Amino acid sequence: MAMQTQTPSMSTPMILLLALLCLSAAARSAHAQTPAATAPAPATAAATPKTIKAVLTKAGQFTKFLQLLQSTQEDSQIDNQLKGKSSSGGLTVFAPPDNAFSALKSGTLNALSDAQKTSLVQFHVVSQLIPMAQFDTASNPLRTQAGETRPGKYPLNVTADGQQVNISTGVVNASVSGTVYTGDRLVVYQVDKVLLPWALYGPALPPAPAPSPVEKEKEKGKVGPKAAADAPAADAATASEAAVPARPGGVWGQGGVFGVAVAVAAAWFVV
Ligand SMILES: *[C@@H]1O[C@H](CO)[C@@H](O)[C@H](O)[C@H]1NC(C)=O
Ligand SMILES: *[C@@H]1O[C@H](CO)[C@@H](O)[C@H](O)[C@H]1NC(C)=O
Ligand SMILES: *[C@@H]1O[C@H](CO)[C@@H](O)[C@H](O)[C@H]1NC(C)=O
Repeated sequence: MAMQTQTPSMSTPMILLLALLCLSAAARSAHAQTPAATAPAPATAAATPKTIKAVLTKAGQFTKFLQLLQSTQEDSQIDNQLKGKSSSGGLTVFAPPDNAFSALKSGTLNALSDAQKTSLVQFHVVSQLIPMAQFDTASNPLRTQAGETRPGKYPLNVTADGQQVNISTGVVNASVSGTVYTGDRLVVYQVDKVLLPWALYGPALPPAPAPSPVEKEKEKGKVGPKAAADAPAADAATASEAAVPARPGGVWGQGGVFGVAVAVAAAWFVV
């Protein structure tokens, strides 16, 4: 019969088709499993520092300091430095609370020009991240963003003994009364007094000997506080250099000091 001879000839292609379907299904499922098996571990998000305004607003009690930061536009300077590569060592901010401002003699701040207010605020900011445990290794005077640290200018000395950290400006003796914020690029400490810089409030120093004409020329080209604020990169570099104690001898040349600075920065970053 025609039917009996036709049946086997139709089943052969069907078996082949089934086999092909099975093979392709197996291949597809194997393929689908591959990405899942080799999926990379989720990347850890880099911690982004908050704005200084967000940090101080959240902490409360810093409204006067925040007003000063904003009126001098130092708040955006700080935020830009936190974002930029120039402050790779991070920033330390000494924030006086409102009661430290109200303890000042009336008129203490009103007498300042805008440029002086900027210097006052910059005096509360250091271009490196100083963890609490490292104040005892800071070399005095500490360089703030206000600039020059020689007597009569903007020296800031820090002495530490465990959790007790004292700050002296030559005009006031203050102390660190707590940590407001710690991030990987920014640390904010509460200080119990407004850090009044010597240059603005200190006793006048006996006049320096009259400068020679050559020195006068040099003086003209000097970088003022405003220019220093516009060039945080240079400032940050100087500050981190100053933080590493200079060693005599060839081994501790520029490269050595730089290497130590990088190592220290890396260690802080990890912690
Ligand atoms: C900090 O100042 C206080 C009070 O003036 C003093 O008793 C303490 O010994 C000082 N500590 C350091 C580490 O300088
Ligand atoms: C800061 O410390 C340096 C070095 O120890 C010292 O010469 C200077 O008088 C101190 N200045 C102030 C304002 O305490
Ligand atoms: C700050 O402390 C030093 C040493 O402890 C002391 O000699 C100086 O008079 C103090 N200055 C002020 C303004 O209290």
